[in-house]
Amino acid sequence: MEENEGNNMAEGSRDSQADGEKMMKSWFSDNLISIIIVLALFWLIKKIVFGTQRRWFSYVMHLCTKDEFVQLEEVKKDHFASLSTIVSQDPQLRKQKVIKILEIGVGTGVNFPHYPDGSHLVVVDPNPHFQSYFDANRKKFPNIHSEGIIVTTGDKMEMISDNSVDVVVMTLVLCSVDNIDEVLREILRVLAPGGKYYFMEHIAEFDLKKHWLRRKLQDAFSWLWSFIFDGCRLNCDVLPNIQRAGFSSVDAQKYYAPVPSVIFDLERPNLKGIAVK
Ligand SMILES: C[S@@+](CC[C@H](N)C(=O)[O-])C[C@H]1O[C@@H](n2cnc3c(N)ncnc32)[C@H](O)[C@@H]1O
Repeated sequence: MEENEGNNMAEGSRDSQADGEKMMKSWFSDNLISIIIVLALFWLIKKIVFGTQRRWFSYVMHLCTKDEFVQLEEVKKDHFASLSTIVSQDPQLRKQKVIKILEIGVGTGVNFPHYPDGSHLVVVDPNPHFQSYFDANRKKFPNIHSEGIIVTTGDKMEMISDNSVDVVVMTLVLCSVDNIDEVLREILRVLAPGGKYYFMEHIAEFDLKKHWLRRKLQDAFSWLWSFIFDGCRLNCDVLPNIQRAGFSSVDAQKYYAPVPSVIFDLERPNLKGIAVK
């Protein structure tokens, strides 16, 4: 009797499993067209959003940087002041009393006003949509010998020779870089001996006692920021990477940068400094 009951239960569960599979198959075949349409829509939205992300990021950067933000320009003026004291390692440029600068992640070209007259400027950026904004901007600075953007990332700069530049500049770039150590290795390779790397980066909040909430918000919204601003992370700390990269000296300060709007409050903690090869 008990054995019979057991057999009946096993049969019953096999039947209900078979019924379930049948129902699932029929649901899929009934809804196949709808499933295909939904998947195609997702694919299209992803393609539109990600396909245009870099284009509109360059436009947003153009809008954010087209007008001078005086408070930030003052900080930069101070930061870049020592550029005018650098003597080029290149005998030809030294004779002309000018230097060669490489700017990585140049964007729209916001640092032109801070480069000494006659500087030879080479720039790279992986986003080709910055080109037109950069070209329009560089026309305003005939005192600088600049070239068009080389479209590449900071870790792939084979076109720039070893020991060939006096100065490397990067402002607000490392937050978007995945392989920071490789970019720093490239900077060391292209800098002439004694050459200088000028950096300004927004970083994770560093005064956790006073501004713990900002740090929490940076952690919470970094993924969203990264989606909106082409990979920019709010909570990275790049000083340890710079310190262990192999420069002969690193002089850096953490500070709170002026920001043009409260929207950018999460980018106020900043790092600036000069590293020497
Ligand atoms: C926030 S924008 C800053 C632009 C400009 N340096 C400034 O101070 O306004 C970040 C820039 O870094 C560039 N970038 C992103 N990833 C990069 C990488 N791996 N190597 C070099 N530049 C990169 C972006 O295309 C963009 O131009």
